[in-house]
Amino acid sequence: MEFQFSINNLFAEEFSLVDNKLVPRRKSPRGNSVSSYREQLMKVIDKMGDASAKAQGLNATITSASKLQFSDHHLYFMIDAQANNGLGAVVGMIKVGQKKLFVYDHNGIQHECEPLCVLDFYVHESRQRHGCGKKIFEHILQVENVKPQHLAIDRPSTKFSNFLKKHYKFRSSIPQVNNFVVFEGFFKDRPPDP
Ligand code: ACO
Repeated sequence: MEFQFSINNLFAEEFSLVDNKLVPRRKSPRGNSVSSYREQLMKVIDKMGDASAKAQGLNATITSASKLQFSDHHLYFMIDAQANNGLGAVVGMIKVGQKKLFVYDHNGIQHECEPLCVLDFYVHESRQRHGCGKKIFEHILQVENVKPQHLAIDRPSTKFSNFLKKHYKFRSSIPQVNNFVVFEGFFKDRPPDP
């Protein structure tokens, strides 16, 4: 997704984490006043959040700057610094966060746990099916120090389910009564809750 302002000024790295402070952690603003920098960052979050909701056919947006501000979620962006005549473009985003859930195991026994959940995941239409989603996903697995089978996924779309099948061989999910989906291996060697 391209913007009229420089994405490279907002995000110095290919991957950046934004949390409720609404500041990409690895970068201090360059060539911008702090307020216009924050305004641009909020615009990027809102536009990407809207595009994600649209891509998933949702009526309500899951990701916005105002929602992020009042959450403890981690929102990661991937950019292409070369795109848009050197201004850079946003390739995709993923939002993760810890949630208290009741999760059933294979024997129908309910466990209270607080896994890291994938809450929103979106790659811009112009970049889908080029391996960008896999790069973003691998990035969060590494940074959040989590194994893919230990994640809970909030209402995965068909595209995301196919993605998980293709890249992580996730086939059978364990039936749940909430909107979250967990896969085979979720309970095996699960790290303790935070
Ligand atoms: N139809 C079916 N499967 C698809 C499609 C599609 N249009 N697009 C991607 N996939 C799956 C397939 O398994 C595909 O492999 P294939 O091309 O060999 O069939 C694989 O994903 C491609 O992997 P990547 O290129 O690494 O993934 P991509 O960059 O396309 O990102 C993502 C995957 C994020 C799901 C992207 O397709 C997307 O943004 N979709 C629209 C929004 C969406 O559905 N987000 C998930 C919502 S659920 C949630 O966030 C908890």
